[in-house]
Amino acid sequence: MNQSAKDEINLEVSIGSLKLPNPIMPASGAFGEDMDQVIDFDQLAAVVPKSITKYPRKGNRTPRVCEVTAGMINSIGIQSKGIDYYLKKTIPYYKKYHVPLISSISADSIDEFAEMAEIIGSLEEVAALELNISCPNLKGNGLAFGLDPETTRNLLRKVREVTDKPLIAKLSPNVTSIQEIAVAAEEGGADGLNIANTVLAMAIDIHTRKPKIGNVMGGLSGPAVKPIIIRMIYQVRQASSLPIIGCGGVMNGEDAIEMILAGATAVQIGTASFVNPTALTDTLEDIKAYMRTYHISDIRELIGKVMASEPIVAE
Ligand SMILES: Cc1cc2nc3c(=O)[nH]c(=O)nc-3n(C[C@H](O)[C@H](O)[C@H](O)COP(=O)(O)O)c2cc1C
Repeated sequence: MNQSAKDEINLEVSIGSLKLPNPIMPASGAFGEDMDQVIDFDQLAAVVPKSITKYPRKGNRTPRVCEVTAGMINSIGIQSKGIDYYLKKTIPYYKKYHVPLISSISADSIDEFAEMAEIIGSLEEVAALELNISCPNLKGNGLAFGLDPETTRNLLRKVREVTDKPLIAKLSPNVTSIQEIAVAAEEGGADGLNIANTVLAMAIDIHTRKPKIGNVMGGLSGPAVKPIIIRMIYQVRQASSLPIIGCGGVMNGEDAIEMILAGATAVQIGTASFVNPTALTDTLEDIKAYMRTYHISDIRELIGKVMASEPIVAE
């Protein structure tokens, strides 16, 4: 083998039948078309636009974002231009890129999820659907879907009936047993799991004594949530055989590798892109450097390879 062949590294991974050129993709809601000014989308594993709803939505009261120690809280409330705009403008826009387009869907009912999945899933330009069953910023059902195993299973089943596209269930971390929800999504027919959406949180301005978020509570993201997400990936890896997309607090390649070792096949990056606009492509470069340092030729050699013994339960 010559030197250049030896240096070659394979970054390809798959989520069900969805083949990805590498494991790094943006997180829905923290990625937009304007980011093409700073990064080459074709270097990413996939493009994942903001969650789309059936009808246009204004979103929540302002302020919708605030900074907290090691992260941010947002309560955007799925501001959306609606499915018609998405079909006419958003999907055609991404057509010029060669990487897969993953469409994130948010809906008010199981039937509406199925209706949207059938329409969007029928498009050749769309490689996979990510079902946002976990938004903490919506009243009632927006959060409730992913909190209940029975609802999660039924929702996946209904959507599975209407499309053959790979289905990724984006889970909520705001649950007692993430394993239970993961297994329910798998039983319903999911091809992959996204772990996870934001952690329900609150911050107060002590001078005005008002919540820092107009909607009082919102979703925490960024480095503050990473250890929680790592734990959940590790737990789900033991309960489900589905590939996992890790999401929450990844700021660089070290964080991404940590997620992969915990059991993630791919990694999404959200908040980091607000801090560093080239975080996605920088992370990919960091991963390559790590693999060269440790003489790892295939990223798949790292998935779930944390060397952990069984946790001891104190008597
Ligand atoms: C401003 C903002 C908007 C978001 N909007 C969505 C959304 O529309 N759909 C969704 O599934 N997740 C949304 N999220 C959650 C992210 O996709 C991601 O799950 C979360 O931010 C954790 O990853 P991070 O720590 O890398 O940001 C949003 C997050 C932020 C910060």
